Amino acid sequence: MKVGVLTGGGDCPGLNAAIRAVVRKGIKEFGMDFTGIRDGWKGMIDADGFPLTSADVSGILVKGGTILGSSRTNPIKMEGGMDKVRNGFQRLGLDSLIAIGGDDTLSVAAEMSRMGMDVIGIPKTIDNDIAGTERTIGFNTAITVACEAIDRVHTTAESHHRVMIVEVMGRHAGWIAVMAGIAGGADLILIPERPFVLEEVCDVIRKRHERKSFTIVVVAEGAHPKGGTVTTKSDEIDDFGHVALGGVANWLKKEIAERTGFETRASILGHIQRGGKPSAEDRLLGTRLGVKAIHYASNNNFGVMVTLRNDKIEALPLDEAIKDRRVDEEWYSIAETFFG
Ligand code: F6P
Repeated sequence: MKVGVLTGGGDCPGLNAAIRAVVRKGIKEFGMDFTGIRDGWKGMIDADGFPLTSADVSGILVKGGTILGSSRTNPIKMEGGMDKVRNGFQRLGLDSLIAIGGDDTLSVAAEMSRMGMDVIGIPKTIDNDIAGTERTIGFNTAITVACEAIDRVHTTAESHHRVMIVEVMGRHAGWIAVMAGIAGGADLILIPERPFVLEEVCDVIRKRHERKSFTIVVVAEGAHPKGGTVTTKSDEIDDFGHVALGGVANWLKKEIAERTGFETRASILGHIQRGGKPSAEDRLLGTRLGVKAIHYASNNNFGVMVTLRNDKIEALPLDEAIKDRRVDEEWYSIAETFFG
């Protein structure tokens, strides 16, 4: 069996662990041949592939990013894009494909499956917002990095008696903000799922400063005021229709400083959350998902995404698995316990 492997969408730590697991198990146990596809769906459309051997995946476990490259090319939006995908698949001589990506990348995989091509999805995104799985590759590293940043901001906030705002990624889902915020002891967490009222934010800070001299606010990039809009970095819109978010922390900094009179600073973590070495947890998750994905391929069990559920790796039909997952009431109420 000739199996293609691609990574699409925003990169994240742990992708290489998944690629390595797929290739190592596929060659060793099933005698499969692998083709690495460059830069996500762009490479599939251009039939831009190369033989992916055990030697190619040697030593990549600890490396961040993806040895295959990635892009946000979206064939569904292109004129005849899915036919081009089918064409690339055939030109590369593939029997099946392992697509590693977030909901955008996997929605293309689901479409391929509907068209009759054999495909298996592996969920990755630092945002952890794919409904079918309890964890996505990259999330653990992102919250580890964000938590460390919050810890560092804590000491300087305390020394200078400041309000410090830490902006983390999370377009529609505030998982990084909530989990890193809880782990880092945030005094307030603002997420896209819960539009905020600025005066209420300021009241929490004013009240806190009656007994403390500093405040740590963690905000997801997609958080916005009730009835207001998200803060964008530029007018850029990617192929999947997403605007480039970022900067809500700077806006909050100005508003909070003006309204409360407290000295306020903002730190935007940005792509630092997505770069560098994967945590042990992401290496393990990438490895487990990769091993299981190729196991399903060997059984001709296609059209599925491998998922983590109750500490077991299972398979769910792609369409069912790739729905959005937002921060739920239970998680937010844990965070709220420590506000103020
Ligand atoms: O999709 C993952 C993600 O990291 C989001 O959290 C963030 O909004 C986006 O990617 C940033 O995308 P780009 O790398 O294109 O700037």
